[in-house]
Amino acid sequence: MPETKTFYVTTPIYYPSGHMHIGHTYTTVAADTIARFKKLTGYDTFFLTGTDEHGQKIERRAKEKGVQPKQYIDPIVEETQDMWAMMEIEYNDFIRTTDERHVRVVQDIFKRFYEQGDIYKSEYEGQYCAECEAFWTPSQLKDGNLCPDCGRPTELVREESYFFKMNKYQDWLIDYIENNPGFIQPESRANEMLQNFLRPGLQDLCVSRTSFKWGIQVDFDPKHVVYVWIDALANYISALGYGTGDDTLMQKYWPADVQLVGKEIVRFHVIYWPIMLHALGLPLPKKVFAHGWLLFGNDKMSKSKGNVAYPQPIVRRYGADALRYYLLREMPFGADGNYTNESLITRINSDLANDLGNLVSRTSAMIIKYCGGKVPVPGEYFDVDKTLIQAVEALPVQVETEMDSLQFSRALAHIWRIIGDCNRYIDATQPWVLGKNPDEKERLDTVLYVLAEALRFVAVLLWPYMPATPDKIYGQIGIREAQDKTWDSLAQFGRLTPGAGIERKGALFPRLELDKELEALSEDDATEPNAQEEASAIAPDKGLISMDDFEKLDLRVARVEQCEKVPKSEKLLKFTLSLGTQKRTVVSGIAGSYEPEKLVGTQVVLLSNLAPRKIKGIISEGMILSAASNDDKTLKLLTVESDIEDGAGIS
Ligand code: MSP
Repeated sequence: MPETKTFYVTTPIYYPSGHMHIGHTYTTVAADTIARFKKLTGYDTFFLTGTDEHGQKIERRAKEKGVQPKQYIDPIVEETQDMWAMMEIEYNDFIRTTDERHVRVVQDIFKRFYEQGDIYKSEYEGQYCAECEAFWTPSQLKDGNLCPDCGRPTELVREESYFFKMNKYQDWLIDYIENNPGFIQPESRANEMLQNFLRPGLQDLCVSRTSFKWGIQVDFDPKHVVYVWIDALANYISALGYGTGDDTLMQKYWPADVQLVGKEIVRFHVIYWPIMLHALGLPLPKKVFAHGWLLFGNDKMSKSKGNVAYPQPIVRRYGADALRYYLLREMPFGADGNYTNESLITRINSDLANDLGNLVSRTSAMIIKYCGGKVPVPGEYFDVDKTLIQAVEALPVQVETEMDSLQFSRALAHIWRIIGDCNRYIDATQPWVLGKNPDEKERLDTVLYVLAEALRFVAVLLWPYMPATPDKIYGQIGIREAQDKTWDSLAQFGRLTPGAGIERKGALFPRLELDKELEALSEDDATEPNAQEEASAIAPDKGLISMDDFEKLDLRVARVEQCEKVPKSEKLLKFTLSLGTQKRTVVSGIAGSYEPEKLVGTQVVLLSNLAPRKIKGIISEGMILSAASNDDKTLKLLTVESDIEDGAGIS
């Protein structure tokens, strides 16, 4: 028996400090697609994802909500897992850094590093950004004190810490990177790492903290907790049971074949992680691939900037496969790309509804009409058939080649080239003309057989990218047997069995009306993905806010200068408010109870420091909490709940 080939792929483990968005979805969908493709092509795969649950940021967020960190995290982790199920993500394991199995491994690794002299105790002083969990040198800070990544104020931290002697391994790593050109992908990132970090000389890395508690305790020095990166990076081996005495999974899957990361964390994965592994005597992952960012409004998504897209509303409207296709097709893996609702709808219409959907429905409709709903027996192949057959037979290898370099978009472009070829083949062979002439029956049967068999190739190859779509195609071209859905079944054209019955189904991807969809999506933007779940997660403290919380609210009385209905909306009013010298635009969902003209000149109470949010394409800068009633001009309190229902929502 030949040995089974194995394949291990990982995503970064995400911080559950807030809801996961479409950017996290991007990495996870990519990893899932790789895992599925390898599974399809005969590999025994292991796909790991998870959550990175320690650190000061989470400790602070939990404190703000008045709950314990674990209580704060659990609902977010659950929501993340639900989101992955909704996206058809099939991971083999989901590791949480609070799992006991992980904690033990991190403690052991830390001790081992200390005992072998890789880690020493000293004192740290520097500017620290808790939001980004990063230390910055004075020259890196913006405007003297601000974090160069997120722009928030940093704080001076001075504390006893353990440090990892990174420079001890620097020359070894430079050598390794230079001699293993495939290790860091895209290759330009390798040059960047060598030039910016490795050749100038590595600083020792701070690996423990004493100023916060939410982390894995250093067991031989309990006032320290392990500081994020050793904890986080170790997940890739703790999930395989490293150091537990049972090394089955380590033997089988380590070293990882591909570790996917966003470009902002490539440094940790190609410098600190290899050094940690080398210090443990373990081989390095075969490939670390740094992909680009999915931007929204040409900017990195950020909740505080209000420019975040979440997958839930998209999947609810168009299904996971449509979003998966868009993410994998729209931008080359490795480059940045801009997400827009418009480009999503346009892609769905052109590629999924028109190209693929039409091909499937035309083919099955013609087999029903001309062949009594049964796959026909093909006759002799003509040149026009042979050209298409050759292109179809070449497709699996072309797709595999692109997948070997993780070029999802190019792999899909190959599949769509064949879909285009098939649509052109229909136009060239004109089955509806053949159908009128009984002498052309054999020719007609051949054309329809070639189309159905070409679609079988397309459906089999689509599975890794769009897992639910192939099953919707199979019935429409008479495929039932599992053996006709495999990679091996693509070794030859012509496996489709004549005589098999066709099922007619509705459109695979209904055509969308752009304007209507854009409006619906922008309304969806106005609500958090799971606002109710978040509310229930913190329910024990509902009604109780601390003075600290209260002091954060900037409540102002503002004068209504203008007020009008938001076009095409029943509920929304757009206000222009005057706050003395400042003007503000605010959208509020109170059109049901107020006439806009009557509000002009009245006063409202405004929560003025709410993060700006886009509602129906309008940037709304604050929330109206109270407005004068139409009748007696007394102030009326508008509850946050009614605001949510009305689509103006809390951020
Ligand atoms: N917890 C660390 C990673 C530790 S791995 C040992 C972390 N977490 S994170 O929640 O901030 O997730 C970062 C990762 O999420 C990125 O590296 C990327 O994979 C994905 N993305 C988050 N936002 C993204 C975009 N806007 N675009 C593309 N990917 C994005 O860093």
